[in-house]
Amino acid sequence: MKTTSSHGLHSASLCTPYLLLVPLGLLAALLVLPSLGSSHARSEGLGVLCRGAGADADGYYTAAAKENMAAVAAADAPAQPELSLLVGVLTMPGRRERRDIVRMAYALQPPPAPAGVARVDVRFVFCGVSDPVDAALVAVEAARHGDILVLNCTENMNDGKTHEYLSAVPRLFAAAPYDYVMKTDDDTYLRVAALVEELRTKPRDDVYLGHGFAVGDDPMPFMHGMGYVVSWDVAAWVSTNQEILRHNDTHGPEDLLVGKWLNIGGKGKNRYNLKPRMYDLNWFMDNFQPDTIAVHMLKDNRRWAATFKYFNVTDGIIKPSSNLYHLP
Ligand SMILES: *[C@@H]1O[C@H](CO)[C@@H](O)[C@H](O)[C@H]1NC(C)=O
Ligand SMILES: *[C@@H]1O[C@H](CO)[C@@H](O)[C@H](O)[C@H]1NC(C)=O
Ligand SMILES: *[C@@H]1O[C@H](CO)[C@@H](O)[C@H](O)[C@H]1NC(C)=O
Repeated sequence: MKTTSSHGLHSASLCTPYLLLVPLGLLAALLVLPSLGSSHARSEGLGVLCRGAGADADGYYTAAAKENMAAVAAADAPAQPELSLLVGVLTMPGRRERRDIVRMAYALQPPPAPAGVARVDVRFVFCGVSDPVDAALVAVEAARHGDILVLNCTENMNDGKTHEYLSAVPRLFAAAPYDYVMKTDDDTYLRVAALVEELRTKPRDDVYLGHGFAVGDDPMPFMHGMGYVVSWDVAAWVSTNQEILRHNDTHGPEDLLVGKWLNIGGKGKNRYNLKPRMYDLNWFMDNFQPDTIAVHMLKDNRRWAATFKYFNVTDGIIKPSSNLYHLP
């Protein structure tokens, strides 16, 4: 699955700082490497990719920013991950600008936790792309970023996309299964290292984890659509369960239905509610929390900007001495 990240960097013009963060042909990947603090890990980072292509690119970033990028670039390191997670960001072809922002958000993650190694691959998930213009643009996007997954369904909210995603993944990645499969949206900012820290201590099977939606006495009969994780065995169960299809149980409020299938099937019994740490950003944008795992409702650029600001994503990325950027 992991291709050589330098593969696509043919020309200097591609070697812009941002593009380096998500090396071509590689899924946006973050490794939480115990060795990250060593100079070795850092020197194997993006500087290597960019060498000779654009000397300038090295100078734009502070050491801290480079360290973060190195964590992303270190995806090529041969370390054996302690756990692996596939993150599917459900989106639509036309939402190109949003995808660009989300891609950067995944690339510029906060510094990883000191312990453990995780492999986290991020893919943007579409249903079938029928419009020829969309198809051409999605094709170049897929070729450029290698992080696109097109499913066999028609693009339509509440029309079986989540079911298609959860059932396609076990087939598509059968050769190299992940421990966990996540579904999230393009208006969710996920803090990957924080989520990985949660998952590290959890079982690797029969897991259903997210922001629990309480109904009556049950605190989490299903997980909120902002983002939830199932273990691989649960996704595999969904993919082979004919009952779900027989009952036409894929149409409707999808995230609620996921809970319904699992509850009926007695699956996802290792269930975890990350509610206070996964939440909706309020209207005033003043309920950010430092220990956030995911913040949702980032429906416009202003809200993304506020999120990057709060989580110090933009902080110190660009050297104050750079003459090329004059940003407030
Ligand atoms: C896609 O779905 C259609 C309709 O259900 C089916 O006929 C077709 O075989 C599917 N194709 C793939 C590649 O799964
Ligand atoms: C399944 O549900 C959808 C949406 O409610 C409906 O359009 C479709 O006809 C149903 N299919 C079957 C086989 O019942
Ligand atoms: C952002 O940086 C400031 C200053 O270093 C720090 O006080 C704050 O805790 C950081 N915020 C988060 C969410 O890490």
